[in-house]
Amino acid sequence: MRCHCHLADEAATLAFGAQLARELIPGLTFYLEGDLGAGKTTLVRGMLRGLGYNGRVKSPTYTLTETYSLPAFELYHFDLYRMHDPREWMDAGFREVSDGHAVSLIEWPDKAAGWLPQPDVIIRLRVADEAREIECEAASARGAHYLETSCTLC
Ligand SMILES: Nc1ncnc2c1ncn2[C@@H]1O[C@H](COP(=O)(O)OP(=O)(O)OP(=O)(O)O)[C@@H](O)[C@H]1O
Ligand SMILES: [Mg+2]
Repeated sequence: MRCHCHLADEAATLAFGAQLARELIPGLTFYLEGDLGAGKTTLVRGMLRGLGYNGRVKSPTYTLTETYSLPAFELYHFDLYRMHDPREWMDAGFREVSDGHAVSLIEWPDKAAGWLPQPDVIIRLRVADEAREIECEAASARGAHYLETSCTLC
């Protein structure tokens, strides 16, 4: 299962994130891939807005992780770009992500390759002139089921 969508502006990325938030279930792990500035954090912000979180969504570039305690589950947002040693991942959230109760959104997963849990969904963002292209690919049976109900904007 795979879907592909053109995101004309930041509002479209936020709306796509809100759409992805609708069928989220605890335990899903997302890898968010794409160059610096591709829109990964913007997508996370859209997902959190869709989940009713109206507070600040800041990029966890230096802290590696940001935790959001939502009514239905905890959401962990990781940005591993500045991680120097994959062992830092163990301190940053390995236990929480692996216990299956949270939703995990991981920017720059390749920085901890081999240490992370397998993804359910891989999201790739690409700069296309002034806009963005997004691709969502299922990487597990749960991820495929999730995308079938969530990728309705494409
Ligand atoms: N569909 C879009 N069209 C044009 N600009 C967009 C779109 N989506 C997001 N942006 C813009 O892209 C910029 C960078 O976004 P963002 O910080 O989310 O990138 P990122 O992938 O998280 O980068 P990093 O790897 O540095 O964390 C922001 O200014 C945002 O407004
Ligand atoms: Mg980011």
